[in-house]
Amino acid sequence: MEQQHLIDLAYLVAGILFIMGLKGLTHPRTAVRGNLLGAIGMLIAVVATLCDHQVLDYQTIIIGIFLGSLIGAVMAIKVQMTAMPQLVALFNGLGGGASVLVAFASLTAENTTETESLITNVAIVCSALIGAVTFWGSLVAFGKLQELSFLRKPARFSGQQVVNLLLAAATLLLGLLVLGYPQDMTYFSIFLIAASVLGITLVIPIGGADMPVVIALLNSYSGLAAAATGFVVDNNVLIVAGSLVGASGVILTKIMCKAMNRSLFHVLFGVLEAVGEVADADEVYSGKIKSTSADEVAMLYDSAERVIIVPGYGMAVAQAQHAVRELANELESRGVEVEFAIHPVAGRMPGHMNVLLAEAEVPYEKLKEMDEINPSFAQTDVVLVIGANDVVNPDARNDPTSPIAGMPILNVDQARTVVVVKRSLSPGFAGVPNPLFAADNCLMFFGDGKQAILDLNRALKES
Ligand code: TAP
Repeated sequence: MEQQHLIDLAYLVAGILFIMGLKGLTHPRTAVRGNLLGAIGMLIAVVATLCDHQVLDYQTIIIGIFLGSLIGAVMAIKVQMTAMPQLVALFNGLGGGASVLVAFASLTAENTTETESLITNVAIVCSALIGAVTFWGSLVAFGKLQELSFLRKPARFSGQQVVNLLLAAATLLLGLLVLGYPQDMTYFSIFLIAASVLGITLVIPIGGADMPVVIALLNSYSGLAAAATGFVVDNNVLIVAGSLVGASGVILTKIMCKAMNRSLFHVLFGVLEAVGEVADADEVYSGKIKSTSADEVAMLYDSAERVIIVPGYGMAVAQAQHAVRELANELESRGVEVEFAIHPVAGRMPGHMNVLLAEAEVPYEKLKEMDEINPSFAQTDVVLVIGANDVVNPDARNDPTSPIAGMPILNVDQARTVVVVKRSLSPGFAGVPNPLFAADNCLMFFGDGKQAILDLNRALKES
């Protein structure tokens, strides 16, 4: 068999492994195997690509592999679980940046542009356009998730959508100019600058609770940029892998949009559907907050038959998942029915809570999704909210002027008693006060998530 046929066969096997890997990732039980299959597929794809006759300079590639692996390994070891979304944003951005570099290299490669076909040039323009938007958009998303002070607040001004639309149209026109004059680097540079500005202006007005949608969308863009790059360098496996990332990113975006009740169109054009004033925290809370202690909560559990635990970002920060699992075990040993309510955007990345609770060996069948568990809050004796805030904010349901209006929430306020574990009355990611904390049936258990649950476990054992 010819070498090229062997390479094509390897690409086919890699493509099948990617698809099997994605299928495995759809369920926590098969996710580790899915991840491994995808990684093996990628290894096969990389080895097959290196065997291609197009590859002339192995020295540069080896230096790149060494440096990339070193940076990747250090980041994977050092980055905290709570900073994963920022890391994902950064990786999406790097994918986009790589596509821009390949597009640039293809345009400037000696003696190629004249013979380049129109299809390749279209691919170069797409690769550079989507890559630049992804790169700069992801850097802004990274800054927002990292809570850099100058990016924390969404930057909005009137007529912003019109400006974005005009900028998008101008960028497309410049792309057409590049197609007409592929050797003119001035057109290409202006086109690249316009695409970069578009990446920034598309993400900069998006704030607070909309960020998960943006991350999923940028993930999809990075896949599309890679697929376009696959056409530029004529590599089938890059086209397949890029399309899979692009398509799965769009599906994830759709799921996230549904979970946050945002239309994709509005997210794409940086429009928040509700931009009402943020209520004053003092007004919402003053004189209405009731704090509680570990011993009091233990007493509440004495008479409880059904308990729901609602984890949020604060559980991840406190690394309280093991203590929470011990609490659930202790309650179950007393005959209490315990379930976990998982909001699709609790935490800072899709599946954040599922991953943490799986790590603490909480059985999957105890984790209930929002739509399944919401009708049962009214029949629940005690709901324990640990480090969750926006995803249990009743204003999303009751106040059409709230910045999070319409975001589906866990209806914890309907339970008989709600205990909220958090360190203070600080707001969550969306930056809005939560009237749940001031409700008659709510008790605030102030403290670090892990310490509070450890104290609660001790109080339960002593009671
Ligand atoms: P948040 O609304 O962000 O609230 C987390 C709460 O945890 C804070 O109010 C904080 O209060 C508390 N906390 C922090 N550290 C703690 C600790 N050590 N011990 C105890 N509590 C602690 O979280 P959520 O309810 O999970 O909602 C998620 C939010 O993030 C949504 O707005 C969502 O849109 C957004 N978001 C989600 C994603 C994805 S994909 N899941 C990605 C980006 C953004 P204190 O400071 O008072 O302790």
